[in-house]
Amino acid sequence: MNNNRITSLIEKMTVHEKISQLIQLATPFYEGAANGGQITGPMQELGIQKEDVINSGSVLGASGAKEVRSIQEAHLKENRLGIPLLMMADIVHGYKTIFPVPLAIGCSWDLEDAEKSAEIAAKEASVSGVHVTFAPMVDLVRDPRWGRVMESTGEDPFLNSEFARAFVRGFQGNDLSNETDRVAACVKHFAAYGAAEGGRDYNTVDMSERQLRESYLPAYKAALDEGCEMVMTAFNTVDGIPATGNKRLMRDMLREEMGFNGVLISDWGAVKEQIPHGVARDEKEAAEKAIQAGVDIEMMTSCYAHHLQSLIEEGKVEEKTVDEAVYRILELKEKLGLFENPYRGADEEREKEIVLSETHREAAYELAVKSSVLLKNDGILPLNKEKKIALIGPFAKSGDILGPWSWLGSKDEAVTLFDGISKKVSSENLLVEKGCNVETGSEELFNKAISQAKKADVIVLALGEDSEMSGEAGCRADIRLPEIQLELISKMKELGKPVAFVLFNGRPLDLTGIEGQADAILEAWYPGTEGGNAVADLLFGDRNPSGKLTMSFPHTVGQVPVYYNNYNTGRPKDAPDAQIRYVSQYLDIPNEPLYPFGHGLSYTNYQYSELNLSSNTMTTDQSLNVSVNVTNSGDITGDEIVQLYVRDMAGEVVRPLKELKAFKKVTLAPGETKTVEFTLTEEQLRYHHVDLTFSSDAGEFTVFVGGSSRDVLSAEFELTK
Ligand code: BGC
Repeated sequence: MNNNRITSLIEKMTVHEKISQLIQLATPFYEGAANGGQITGPMQELGIQKEDVINSGSVLGASGAKEVRSIQEAHLKENRLGIPLLMMADIVHGYKTIFPVPLAIGCSWDLEDAEKSAEIAAKEASVSGVHVTFAPMVDLVRDPRWGRVMESTGEDPFLNSEFARAFVRGFQGNDLSNETDRVAACVKHFAAYGAAEGGRDYNTVDMSERQLRESYLPAYKAALDEGCEMVMTAFNTVDGIPATGNKRLMRDMLREEMGFNGVLISDWGAVKEQIPHGVARDEKEAAEKAIQAGVDIEMMTSCYAHHLQSLIEEGKVEEKTVDEAVYRILELKEKLGLFENPYRGADEEREKEIVLSETHREAAYELAVKSSVLLKNDGILPLNKEKKIALIGPFAKSGDILGPWSWLGSKDEAVTLFDGISKKVSSENLLVEKGCNVETGSEELFNKAISQAKKADVIVLALGEDSEMSGEAGCRADIRLPEIQLELISKMKELGKPVAFVLFNGRPLDLTGIEGQADAILEAWYPGTEGGNAVADLLFGDRNPSGKLTMSFPHTVGQVPVYYNNYNTGRPKDAPDAQIRYVSQYLDIPNEPLYPFGHGLSYTNYQYSELNLSSNTMTTDQSLNVSVNVTNSGDITGDEIVQLYVRDMAGEVVRPLKELKAFKKVTLAPGETKTVEFTLTEEQLRYHHVDLTFSSDAGEFTVFVGGSSRDVLSAEFELTK
């Protein structure tokens, strides 16, 4: 510890004051909050005293310049040493201007726009008084049953790492002390929360250290390398020990190995949850394990508040350990400039001007366009504005398109698909009916929809999951559309007209039985505030779809987890000498997903040719140039995401069949060909060996380039050492 102001402040603090810095409470505990004093239910059971609140270090969920200022003001009147509160909140994909959910942002493969979305979220949040956002969430995901896949950018460690960096840059900017329009970022949930068994939230995670290091840790590490100020623990176990009390994970890997010396916060209630996990007898032991593991802030339980003092007195926890935690928290306050200006960016006047401004909405629109994925198109899209369209389905006029992590976003501010389409076609050409609700319906609703659809030339079905069906604790074992929507589809199909699906949802769905019924499928995810405008522009071809999946769509849920960067097995199904039966396969469905990682169509076509390597050998010092020609063979301009994958043909441990190593987005005019070039280096071929050292092997590699992980050209090279 070498910051004089902070060390001398800590010297003045009583043990109680120090411990209270480590407590994070929600707004009801605070005077000045809109819901101040409404401490009911579980919050009441925390047994938090006024003294704890007065000395507490941070607040969860305060927002709005007025509220934040009044909380801070009331606090500073009472806090003996005048230590300001840190205001933390979940600003995940937008504050009030809601961007598409992160899984959708992933599908844009657009790092610049992703960064911009975080920058805008930070700007709106900061002017509304927020100092820290609990984002980015960078958990790698392979199981669409898990409700929180919508918070992640997908199944690839490299791509997730790139997005992790982009989001951190966007939130934090270059200098938090001088840029008050930025907020500190908190990468979460450390570690491997995305691998919950069976896709059930909060469930056990058990994986080899190799898998952890190879696939799951890189994105957290990338966020830290980008300077991310905070880390949040995960709810799950890692190697049999809940992450929040996992010393090896937090002290050895996160702090020692990854060099993280910022603030580590528990997830909501996770310190105390060590009791039901079965690794702590009581709150006292839970507090001891968490502080020893290096958790600085306990979110929303009171194990630290009630037990750290006696743990210190009994010599079970050194006061020095608490001092270190306090130091980190105060250091963050200092970095944010709170000692000089405890109100930081909070400004009611600017808030009115900035929040949900036209420019912010434009950026949200742009990203919604880029993150929608055209999964299938038998030629009925783009729609003709002169034809009669029946817009049917529970999402036709629904504003529930912001996603489950948009608590400050308003569904009323969201542009629905109907709003978007209405701007494009005459009212005679647009017939609209709900057909059914998301999960319920009636003959009457069906009949109304049928009679409208009969009059139309084409049916657009707006289907999906409501936001409660995904997100935290939003897991589903059956990831098909709800039964009633499946019925609606077949009723519409019976009319014998072309049918396009637009899907609003937070996870890759199981499209068993309905994929074949659609003439086109546009995956819009939860596209955010400007969703309806973006989707309408895509449907009518005013914008050309360019999004590509970053999480595989399974054939059926029974295939899950299914992801592109899997291993070959000893009995691969497609080997030239494969037997008919004794190979790794399902008897009833293909091994591959329905729509693989990287898949996404456009209204034009791209041809790949001339994959060339600058040499057929690479050395540690000499990189390889990979080039490919991409031609737009259609008649409209489009953006293509060119993807480069590598396979290490024989490693010391098994290696994935393909690993994404690079990508580029290129714009191509009709008939235009561009040569797209990549540089591949030895560093990109490294992996964790038997002894977990990270290096590459001399030997054969295959490089693949294409428009999805499935459709690629390939070439071989050798790494010599
Ligand atoms: C979630 C976190 C979130 C926290 C605070 C928890 O339930 O798991 O992702 O940041 O609540 O709202």
